[in-house]
Amino acid sequence: MASPSAVRAKAGTSDQIFELRASLSRKRIGALSNAHSDLWLYNGQSPGPEIRVRKGERVRVRFVNNLEEPSTVHWHGIRIENAMDGVPGLTQDAVLPGEHFDYDFIAPDAGTYWYHAHNHSWAQVGRGLYGPLIVDESEPVSSSADHTLVLDDWRLDETGSLLTDFDEYMREKHFGRVGNTITVNGLPMGERKALSAGKFHRIRLINAANARIFRLRARDLDARIVALDGQNLEEQQVAEELLLAPAQRIDLIVRLGSDKTGSIEDADGALSLGSKDEERAVLISFQGSNEEVSATDAFPSLQTNALPELDLKTAFHVPLVMEGGSLSSIETAFFRGKSLGVEELAAAKQVWKFNGTANLPSEPLFRIERGRSVVVEMQNRTGFEHAMHVHGHHFKVVNSDERLGPWRDTSYMASKSSQSIAFSASNPGKWLFHCHMLEHAAAGMRSWFEVV
Ligand code: C2O
Ligand code: CU
Repeated sequence: MASPSAVRAKAGTSDQIFELRASLSRKRIGALSNAHSDLWLYNGQSPGPEIRVRKGERVRVRFVNNLEEPSTVHWHGIRIENAMDGVPGLTQDAVLPGEHFDYDFIAPDAGTYWYHAHNHSWAQVGRGLYGPLIVDESEPVSSSADHTLVLDDWRLDETGSLLTDFDEYMREKHFGRVGNTITVNGLPMGERKALSAGKFHRIRLINAANARIFRLRARDLDARIVALDGQNLEEQQVAEELLLAPAQRIDLIVRLGSDKTGSIEDADGALSLGSKDEERAVLISFQGSNEEVSATDAFPSLQTNALPELDLKTAFHVPLVMEGGSLSSIETAFFRGKSLGVEELAAAKQVWKFNGTANLPSEPLFRIERGRSVVVEMQNRTGFEHAMHVHGHHFKVVNSDERLGPWRDTSYMASKSSQSIAFSASNPGKWLFHCHMLEHAAAGMRSWFEVV
């Protein structure tokens, strides 16, 4: 199958700038029999071109906006310089149709990242404006063949063409826009991929969907989870259940002998997408073909990135109360500096609030001096799941006994649950903090904080 790495941006050297053009593209999604769709894509591809550099290298991208509306590019998960974060109204002005903006930053951490539009995101990302950003270790594990798999789901009509009613997100019963067609690198799910050269293969899974949570399982695969949200793990885990909330990434290392097949499949039946047969839904299957793979070879270990350490003892604590959604609707909320009632909120298409405010407050959720640790105590009082994303920083979930989870940039939260996350506010600037279910963000689940 085609891989987005077919086009590799040489964005690493200072005298080269890679052009990323957003434009309308009439293309097919998924099956060959589908009608064409009106997509918005980077360089005419879905997913957009894979931008690939080494850890510590400079990334220079000229974003050219050939859309009919303003846009920006956000480099998801990169501990980036604030001015390059791509958030309109917070870190830059949106790039107008016909104009361009030069992004120029260092990629400090090796790992699996992605880039996507950050204006009118539910429609722009939903129409295809995203692509992988892969940062290789300074010494990549040479025997590992490397495969990037970008997952998305789309809502197609009966001809197989994309329904473009994105702005009707208030009709979604507040689950967000979940589609009826899954793609892996733009192709239909269920493809088979041969794993040939190399004894070990690195599989990088990226969830680019607006709202779908992928609940996956590795079947007949000798695999380890080696990284989450771009950060290599200190301790690799045997890969079984794989929960991939919107924007999250999971990297696996897989070994598969020459007579073996294995797959990544749906764990809970949600991907059967209405098909009546009981057959398991296979997202992608792999065929081993290397004779030398042996069950006794140790899995390669990966270098971890050095992230700023946490100090929970002196940390600043911030409560974040998350409310709203159709199961426990809000009656009032602050929105753009005014207190609104039910009808005004509905007219403003706001149904969620963080600490009483729907969408970006004029004052930050908190302001903190650089280098201090912060613990955000999130209380999800809604009847929905969420995928909470912090810009510019990686964090750890603080478990009840103060044990810390692995580094992440996006955290899954079950409905009616609480979770505390901790990070060192090491990166100066104004940073967004929002749910990555893009309809939730549009309808209120966005805030920001400032590191001074
Ligand atoms: Cu992928 Cu504001 O994020
Ligand atoms: Cu959400």
